[in-house]
Amino acid sequence: MTATATDIEQAAGVLRDGGLVALPTETVYGLAANAEDPAAVARIFQVKGRPPSHPLIVHIADAQQLDDWVAEVPAAARLLAERFWPGPLTLVLRRGDRVPLEATGGLETVAVRVPDHPVARALLSAFGGGVTAPSANRFGSVSPTTADHVRAELGNAVDLILDGGSCLVGVESTIVDVTGEMPSILRPGGVTREGLEAVLGHPVAVPSTSGVRVPGQHPSHYAPRARVVLVEPEKVVAEAEAAGEAGHQVGVLLPSSLADLEVKAHAVVALPGAPDAYAHGLYGFLRELDRQGCDLIVASLPAEEGLGLAIANRLRRAAGPRGSV
Ligand code: TXA
Ligand code: MG
Repeated sequence: MTATATDIEQAAGVLRDGGLVALPTETVYGLAANAEDPAAVARIFQVKGRPPSHPLIVHIADAQQLDDWVAEVPAAARLLAERFWPGPLTLVLRRGDRVPLEATGGLETVAVRVPDHPVARALLSAFGGGVTAPSANRFGSVSPTTADHVRAELGNAVDLILDGGSCLVGVESTIVDVTGEMPSILRPGGVTREGLEAVLGHPVAVPSTSGVRVPGQHPSHYAPRARVVLVEPEKVVAEAEAAGEAGHQVGVLLPSSLADLEVKAHAVVALPGAPDAYAHGLYGFLRELDRQGCDLIVASLPAEEGLGLAIANRLRRAAGPRGSV
């Protein structure tokens, strides 16, 4: 049930008292604390099981507040904020004095975004300040895109969960570093590279396929319990059936181009062909295959354009080496 005005007032009170609120955004659910309260911020790391060196994103109510949180706003940042906020874009800028080092993992830069979800916006307005909010999952696992996912992951560890339905975008925000000479993408997400390039008027660098090397990002992030194996689309069916014969409980993310094929597997998700529907469903599909008891998930990468870039990034990380985080 969607959060009411009373729930939002109560949540603002929880934040003022140094508590933690799970809140819906258009990307994924976040675990929010008052960004200016180092003790509350510290509790986020504790609840998530996240190493304290991993920087958080500060969420603010509107673009006009950006100057209050950062030391400087370069022209490119202003341009991107005007075009994409509120929305699934996070800008990394030089840290303002208001941002405690606890929130930035000790960095002199800070990540900021204005979420586009009525419940998140209402809470930020009612609260008045900024909130640090990582995705509301345990460190390394799949981000929650419904309030039920949050309950399953964090349960009583949070003071209040605001329900805002299922997140429209379904993958996290695009993180763009605007502290250097040229803006660069640190994490692909809900705003496409093509969209950024159209606004900036020049190509934007993206992380290499070998994995992003920025603080707080590791190969095995966004991972379900089941092991994820990536193969060429035309090999998905053969790989799944071979693994099944070898005794695995196999889950398949079946590309829409193969929708007509019969696959013998423990569980099959027929992927939507439209990239926005695929991104919207991605984390739910991985959770569902876990829930059905799969120990191995066979998938392939979509074309790395538009939202496909973010989807492929998450699948690669889900398939990345475990135990290294
Ligand atoms: O869509 C989203 O961005 C969601 C929703 C809740 O807003 N939040 C989210 O937060 O994905 P989190 O903590 O799961 O991921 C934030 C990532 C960190 O892993 C880190 O890599 C990057 O943001 N980050 C934060 N501050 C940074 C900084 N100063 N420099 C470089 N990267 C930074
Ligand atoms: Mg996360």
